[in-house]
Amino acid sequence: MRIGVIGTGNMGSLIVDALVRSKATRPRFISVTNRTKQKALELAKKYRLLSVYSSPNEILQHADIVFLCVKPAEFHPLLQTLRGRWHPKQLAISITSPISVTQLESLIPCQVARVIPSIVNQSLSGSTLVTFGSSVTDVQKSKLWAILSQFSHPIEIDEENVRVASDISSCGPAFLSYLLQRMIDGAVSSTSISKKQATQLTTEMVAGLGKIFEEHIYTLEELQKKVTVKGGVTGVGLAVLEQEISDVFEKLFTETQKKFIEDRHVVNTEFNGD
Ligand SMILES: NC(=O)c1ccc[n+]([C@@H]2O[C@H](COP(=O)([O-])OP(=O)(O)OC[C@H]3O[C@@H](n4cnc5c(N)ncnc54)[C@H](OP(=O)(O)O)[C@@H]3O)[C@@H](O)[C@H]2O)c1
Repeated sequence: MRIGVIGTGNMGSLIVDALVRSKATRPRFISVTNRTKQKALELAKKYRLLSVYSSPNEILQHADIVFLCVKPAEFHPLLQTLRGRWHPKQLAISITSPISVTQLESLIPCQVARVIPSIVNQSLSGSTLVTFGSSVTDVQKSKLWAILSQFSHPIEIDEENVRVASDISSCGPAFLSYLLQRMIDGAVSSTSISKKQATQLTTEMVAGLGKIFEEHIYTLEELQKKVTVKGGVTGVGLAVLEQEISDVFEKLFTETQKKFIEDRHVVNTEFNGD
């Protein structure tokens, strides 16, 4: 299975890293290209047998599965340059949420799927959110599933839930990191602990917490119950959170849905004007 990656920015290079480090494939079976070629060449310094090409067209000539790892606004122009270049047996994979699988199918005359990665896939864990197009064969589905399973837990997601699922899985690491930073800042400004020590304690706590969930030792609820001793300190802290956090996440998801509608509108205008 030859894998091509068009766009080796944050996510494209993360996918190459995850594929190689998880041994899903070897660098000699991966070909990449990037608008600014130097970025792709940097990746090839890391993985010697990786092939770097100068154009997306060349990737299509050398890959069975092609990951399209560009931003939504760059997507339509890229697909225009690839018109007439696809082979019906190829599998094209978009990693961007505002472009629906139906839209992809209208412009790419081969099998298509969407796979939304997450920064946590870098540690060969976390979910990837998968939506298959109508023409993807069972064989191709199994092959893709097997590849993704090497570095993540693939989960099939309906089109209507793609944004909220991405919010949790892909934006979640940034949301939680922000909350943890606020916890550190609060500890530093209210007590005599240093920022360095509070940060170390926090990151080590989160790493341990991740292992607890990975090993299914406790659920979220069980963990809270275990730590909350009756009449103890954790309960006092949780009561403050319950009172203060209010409807912050309802507001957050309302705003991300609004932004998604705006992004979809921009994408639809481009696709409809095709
Ligand atoms: N960041 C996340 O955590 C995350 C998670 C899930 C999904 N996504 C989705 O992933 C997509 C990419 O995000 P990103 O953060 O990886 O963006 P990025 O770092 O800007 O990477 C995009 C890359 O595509 C290259 N590119 C653009 N047009 C091209 C073309 N025609 N041919 C070849 N290369 C081209 C760009 O090249 P240059 O070097 O010339 O700019 C850039 O390196 C977005 O749609 C985003 O929604 C992101």
